Amino acid sequence: MTSSALSFPASASSPFERWHRHFLHNRDAPCTLPWQEPYHLSPTELRVAGRSIQQFQLGEWARGRGLKRRAASHPVLGTDPSFLPALELFIAEEQGHSAILGRFLDRERIPRLANNWLDGVFRRLRKLAGLDVCVTVLVTAEVLAMPFYEALRDATRSSLLRSICMRILRDEAAHLKYQALTLGLVRRPLSGAARTICSLGHSALFHGTALLLWQQHRKMFHAAGWSFASFWNDARRWFRLLQRRIENCDPSNLVPL
Ligand SMILES: [Fe+2]
Ligand SMILES: [Fe+2]
Repeated sequence: MTSSALSFPASASSPFERWHRHFLHNRDAPCTLPWQEPYHLSPTELRVAGRSIQQFQLGEWARGRGLKRRAASHPVLGTDPSFLPALELFIAEEQGHSAILGRFLDRERIPRLANNWLDGVFRRLRKLAGLDVCVTVLVTAEVLAMPFYEALRDATRSSLLRSICMRILRDEAAHLKYQALTLGLVRRPLSGAARTICSLGHSALFHGTALLLWQQHRKMFHAAGWSFASFWNDARRWFRLLQRRIENCDPSNLVPL
């Protein structure tokens, strides 16, 4: 199939139009988090969760220049009039997560990280190839963000941190659908064999990263009452859901709630 046969004419309904509206709505909705709560993390909570929050605050922040460049030059999605505007708002939403976590770190007098080796590996991986690889690496981190924030939500007695995690979890659950739409459409022109290879590569990346994530954050998971088995099962459940959505890729289902 040629790229022109797949391109989106300006008059056609864009599968990303609703996502654009969703991100706009999120951006303009008031952000109500209980910043005034008097509770501060105890020394034990700082020890088990501080480093984890630092790492995710850094990981959530990206300019997204490479992603936008790849998206703009993509022969199919680049022609969708809503794709790039939605992507810009998606990147801004991720930066918003980083800003919220950064404000929490400042409030708890935990220094922000300037760099982290795992974050650096992910940033380099995203630069390796085209839009497919870039989004695949990005969404792998987003799948693992689900068990991470579910555990962080319960790891301390801070209701502020709990509210922050719930807010981010709500956004990330939508991101998984949004990225499944992107990857599903990017992979649609591929042969069945090529799609299987993509899926196997993604699965290997996901499982390797999940093991690293557990190794880096197991103290925080334990504080929230999670065992390795509960982490592994939850992470794999989110990943299977993502893979099903990519494989089936029905744009009419992959819309915001
Ligand atoms: Fe995020
Ligand atoms: Fe996300």
